[in-house]
Amino acid sequence: MAAVHPKELILAKGFGSAKRQREFLVARSAARLGIAEMGFLPLPVGKGPKGEPLWPPGVVASLAHDEGWAGCLIAKRGSGLVALGLDFEPLNREVSKGVYQTIYSPAEAQQLEALGDWALRAGFCAKEAIFKCLYPLFGAYLGFLDAQLVFLDHQTFVAKLSQPSGAPEIPAQVTGQLWRQEDRIFAALGL
Ligand SMILES: CC(C)(COP(=O)(O)OP(=O)(O)OC[C@H]1O[C@@H](n2cnc3c(N)ncnc32)[C@H](O)[C@@H]1OP(=O)(O)O)[C@@H](O)C(=O)NCCC(=O)NCCS
Repeated sequence: MAAVHPKELILAKGFGSAKRQREFLVARSAARLGIAEMGFLPLPVGKGPKGEPLWPPGVVASLAHDEGWAGCLIAKRGSGLVALGLDFEPLNREVSKGVYQTIYSPAEAQQLEALGDWALRAGFCAKEAIFKCLYPLFGAYLGFLDAQLVFLDHQTFVAKLSQPSGAPEIPAQVTGQLWRQEDRIFAALGL
């Protein structure tokens, strides 16, 4: 892990729990390592008012972390990508039906259930990656039901998006990638 940056340490202190502070710092350190490897100055990664990471100039990226993992997807601004979204979720965590009712429309839930439990986890992961990709670019808050999955298999997802009111126009549809590593499912997309 790269050394903790003092500015990130100050941001981390804003979180109540030691676990959250640790996850925040580990993920930020991983991000700065990646940023340095791409030839940029390893500047601290700030935090915007809605939790969005504030990347150093020239960098487009997205972060995800949990107790055991921290990951960062990074690209150079100007490389054809203007936004990235990354998320991962454990495949083995029990999730209640009630939670899925808040994430999926009845039709979506039925289609994903037919594919198996992994697909319900993957769809959730895909939706969070979509949010992380779109929010910094458009400032649009999309709820889970504003992104409707119209295709999902072990490698790919496609979601149709509702236009949020009072925000810049967002893409009508996005496509992303899914993959598994150990006991987690990962989702990523770029715009
Ligand atoms: C923000 C959210 C997506 C984070 O996902 P999570 O699974 O809880 O947590 P993860 O560890 O995967 O990701 C956390 C990281 O997401 C990033 N993040 C948080 N808010 C963000 C935002 N508004 N925009 C972009 N990235 C954001 C941060 O880097 C954060 O880590 P940090 O606080 O240490 O910097 C989730 O909490 C949320 O609010 N979801 C509701 C909206 C949604 O997902 N809609 C789906 C339809 S598009």
